[in-house]
Amino acid sequence: MLAGKKVFLIISGGIAAYKSLDLIRRLQDQGATVRCCLTANAKEFVTPMAVSALSRGPVYMDQFSLKDESEMGHIELSRQADLLVVAPATANILARMAAGIADELATTLLLATDKPVLAAPAMNVRMWTHAATQANVATLKSRGILFVGPGEGPMACNEYGPGRLAEVPEIVAAIAAALDPRRPLAGKRAVVTSGPTVEPIDPVRFIANRSSGKQGHAIAAALAALGAEVTLVSGPTALADPEGVTVAHVESAREMLAACQAALPADVAVCAAAVADWGVDGIATQKIKKEPGGAPPSIRLVPNPDILATLSAPGAARPRLVVGFAAETENLIAHAQAKRARKGCDWIVANDVSIGTGTFGGDANQVTLITETGSDAWPALDKRAVAARLADRIAEALS
Ligand code: CTP
Repeated sequence: MLAGKKVFLIISGGIAAYKSLDLIRRLQDQGATVRCCLTANAKEFVTPMAVSALSRGPVYMDQFSLKDESEMGHIELSRQADLLVVAPATANILARMAAGIADELATTLLLATDKPVLAAPAMNVRMWTHAATQANVATLKSRGILFVGPGEGPMACNEYGPGRLAEVPEIVAAIAAALDPRRPLAGKRAVVTSGPTVEPIDPVRFIANRSSGKQGHAIAAALAALGAEVTLVSGPTALADPEGVTVAHVESAREMLAACQAALPADVAVCAAAVADWGVDGIATQKIKKEPGGAPPSIRLVPNPDILATLSAPGAARPRLVVGFAAETENLIAHAQAKRARKGCDWIVANDVSIGTGTFGGDANQVTLITETGSDAWPALDKRAVAARLADRIAEALS
C-alpha cells in the first residue's frame, strides 16, 4: 500500500513516543522507507539507538551537526520525503509549529518543508482541551496540516478523555490517505445515521438510549475522506460534527427518517443509529404534573418507523447499497443474518453489545461484516479503524 513512499517521522517527547517504534515497523511492512528525527525531549522517552535500529538508518537530532549538514542540509532533508509525520505530536510541538518557531532540528524541518505534514497529537486531556492547544490546532488545520486523532480513553496519567495517540493502524491509514488522496467515492452520495434517538414524553422528559454515535460519526467521516458527499443524520450526541460532512441534527426516530428521506437520492445508506423501537403515544404538549397523592402516569408506546427497512424497500429511491448494523447480545451471526433478511438491506455489520464488551459507548468494536456472499469477522479495532475498513469495502462495491 505504501510501496516506494518516503515518510519522515518526527517523534516528539511524550509518553506515547514508544508507540512510534511500532509505527516505524508497520510503515515498513507496507513498503515505506522511514527516516526519523527525534526532538530533544523525545530522547527522554525512546532511545536514538532503538529508532535507528528499527528505521535502519540515521536518526536526525542535531540542528548544528556538521556531519549531517555536510551530508544533507536540513532544508533538503525536509523536502526529500513524500510526507512529514509528527507522532506523537505534543502540545509543545503543536504550539511551536503554530507559532513558526524553529528552535531545534525537528521544528526547523517543519518550518522549512514544502511537503504535506500529518500530526498525531498525544497529550494529557487537559492540555488537549486547553484553549491554547485548540487554537493552535485550528491554526495548523487552516494551513493545511493534517491531523489523525487524538483518541479518547484511559491515559498514562490516570485520567480519561481525549488526548490518547490514535491507534497505530489508524495512523498508518491516515498516512496512506495523505500520500494517496484517492477519492474513489467522488461523485457518490451517502446517508449515514448515527447516535441514539430521543423520544419525547412531554416538553421536558424523554426516553433515550446509551448510544454515543462514535461509530456512525466515524463512518460518515471515513466516507467523506474517500470523496463521498455525505449527509450524517444524527440523534443527540456529545460529538463534534465531522469535518466535510453535512449534518442534520434530529431527535426522534420519525425526524431521523424524514431527514434521511430528504437526503435521498444516495448511492449508499449506512444505518448505524440506535433507533428507539418505540415512541410515546400522545406526547403531552405541556409538562405532565404530579397530582398530589395521584398514581404515576402510564405511558403507552407505539412502534417507530424502521428507518433501515424503509430505506431498503425496493423502489426508485433505494440506494444501491444499504448497510445496517445488528446490535446483539447472543447468537450474533444467526440473529444478524435473520435481521439482514428481515430488513431487506444488502449488508449487516454485526456487533456484540453484551455487557462487558464495552462496545456501546466505548472506542473499540469487534464486528463481523455479513454480505450477500458470506461473513467476514474483523479483529477488534478502534471504531475509526472499523469505519475506514467499511468505507473501503463500500468504495469497492460501488466502483
Ligand atoms: N434500525 C432503524 N430503525 C429502527 C430500528 C432499527 O433504522 N426503528 C436500524 C439500526 O440503525 C440498525 C438496524 O436497524 O442498522 C438494527 O438495529 P437493532 O437495534 O440491532 O435491531 P432492531 O431492529 O431494533 O431489532 P431487535 O431490537 O429485535 O434486535
